[in-house]
Amino acid sequence: MKLRFLIASGPTREPIDPVRYLSNYSTGTMGRFLAEAVKKRGHKLDWVRCPEEAESARDLEKVLTQRLASADVLVMAAAVCDARPKAVSAKKIKKDKFDSIKLVKNPDILAGLAKKKKSSQVFVGFALESQDLFKNALSKLKRKSLDLIVLQRVTKNIKPFGDQSIEAFLIKKDQSQNVFESIGKKKLAEIIVREAEKLVRDSRNPFC
Ligand code: C5P
Repeated sequence: MKLRFLIASGPTREPIDPVRYLSNYSTGTMGRFLAEAVKKRGHKLDWVRCPEEAESARDLEKVLTQRLASADVLVMAAAVCDARPKAVSAKKIKKDKFDSIKLVKNPDILAGLAKKKKSSQVFVGFALESQDLFKNALSKLKRKSLDLIVLQRVTKNIKPFGDQSIEAFLIKKDQSQNVFESIGKKKLAEIIVREAEKLVRDSRNPFC
């Protein structure tokens, strides 16, 4: 079964002024391997790379909202900045004015898209957690209407960014889990794509 995968990857950037922005350590590596895995399996790929094709969280929200309807699978691997400056300054902010920068929360893109989700669509999300790993991942799975969540641990000493082997847990809606103590991102991406295929199949043949 050939499917349409919509993948968002990489870090969003939230402009502060003409020379500065807020972002995070995401490198987009997982997204690149996911895109390769999708193509290798012969599926159609719609890939939104942050920040090149969608800079801020609100840009990404707009693009994904436009493209969601034609997707069978949404893989939300983008590292969305949780906050953005309340206002983007048109002029470079002077150092003595840094404490005037106010932050506001960004929209939760997946939670918004979940309201438009069709029963035949599969959503895959990611979670990087430092504490209460499973509790937090399960709550995200529910709140964001995910069918599968890829959970990773992040601490001061464990930083799962870039092309490296990571500890990962795949948790499905029925709470079944696959544990990978150490797995390369390329291999993990291939597993995620196959799991997504199975989930689409199950959603279309619920009694099989
Ligand atoms: O940041 P958080 O742990 O909530 O991210 C979990 C999932 O939600 C990820 O797949 C991420 O891409 C997505 N997300 C989102 N909108 C946000 C923050 C995260 O869609 N504002």
